[in-house]
Amino acid sequence: MILEIINKKRLGKELSFKELDYFFNGYLDGEVKDYQMSSLLMAICINGMTDEEIYALTKIFIDSGDVLDLSFMPGIKVDKHSTGGVGDKTTLVIAPIVASLGVPVIKMSGRGLGHTGGTIDKLESIPGFNIALTDEEVMKQAQDIGIVLTGQTATLAPMDKKIYALRDVTGTVSSIPLIAASIMSKKIASGADKILIDIKVGKGALLRTKKDATKLSSLMKKIGKFYNREVSTIISDMNVPLGRNIGNSLEVIEAVDILKGKIKNGNLYRLCIELASEMVSMAKGISKWSANVEVLDAIENESAYNKFLELVEAQGGNLDGVEVSSNVKRIRARKRGVLESVDALSLAEVSLDLGAGRKAKEDEIDYTVGIKLNKVVGDIVKRGDILCTIYYNEKSNIDINKIRDSFSIE
Ligand code: URA
Repeated sequence: MILEIINKKRLGKELSFKELDYFFNGYLDGEVKDYQMSSLLMAICINGMTDEEIYALTKIFIDSGDVLDLSFMPGIKVDKHSTGGVGDKTTLVIAPIVASLGVPVIKMSGRGLGHTGGTIDKLESIPGFNIALTDEEVMKQAQDIGIVLTGQTATLAPMDKKIYALRDVTGTVSSIPLIAASIMSKKIASGADKILIDIKVGKGALLRTKKDATKLSSLMKKIGKFYNREVSTIISDMNVPLGRNIGNSLEVIEAVDILKGKIKNGNLYRLCIELASEMVSMAKGISKWSANVEVLDAIENESAYNKFLELVEAQGGNLDGVEVSSNVKRIRARKRGVLESVDALSLAEVSLDLGAGRKAKEDEIDYTVGIKLNKVVGDIVKRGDILCTIYYNEKSNIDINKIRDSFSIE
């Protein structure tokens, strides 16, 4: 049966719910081995899946664990998910903005994957911040302060967790059907009524073309319809890093600066305002324009920042303890001109080499290292100007030429 299923998909044929259920649950139980699952995943990557197969796979992922019931919280619960990027700290900004406007945010996030950073790693750069809340703690905090940011519990879509780890090391991460089933199963299992997906496209993203992003968007909407969940998508650029900071502590600091109203321009600020406005509009059933006004007010009157402080305190974090390495190297421009592009993927790799992310599952992260962009796309650069500042430690591997080549000045 195992080989038959692999061969059927290899030949591009449709698998039934029964076949998918047998194979994927067999993997969870240990009957189907890593090499057999890798083979099926690669066949799926190459031959794709029909809509029926994708709905079935999403259901199998959801049913592998618990489904949270958030009906004890009044109001529409909107969850947001990003397909992964470089310098993407939007959750840290959006969640407190939205919660401060009376929309409950109960969000389960992940760790960094491949070259992309994860919200949970960023939160852990705040000393003491507990990212492993129990279901009871989640419910209590949601009722007390209306905001929870925690790691995915072991009981939520455990099959996705196991499959994702395998996809990560078998070149099968960027399959559109697999991404759709992975994300939608987690969002549905975590109890959201409405779901906002930020689909990243470009050099630093899983998807490289707008066409693929559009395909993923329509697939996720179809899955949402099937499960009676409203799904909205935003397709956003990931050719250049989001914001100026890459690296865990640095990203928390930049998120706080937006919440404090210190940063009011740039791609990160714009995307945060857009996503937060969309979430508030979906939750309250108001126009995007009205939601936008509320979002800007929440920053202006500091209620969003105060909500973030409440969140940090409730989860045991000490914001004053967020540290950035004191080992600093400044990278200067060798020529003058206009900064035309900053390569997100290349800088994500530099950041991994500095120790800000994991190359293997068991690697430890140094929260204090990373990159700060002193120049962003469109800036005029003079010879000798600082392009970026590198925060490193004694184990960091710093490739100055690679860093300089990440900036194209014309
Ligand atoms: N994020 C997920 O959670 N799953 C994917 O497959 C890709 C991005």
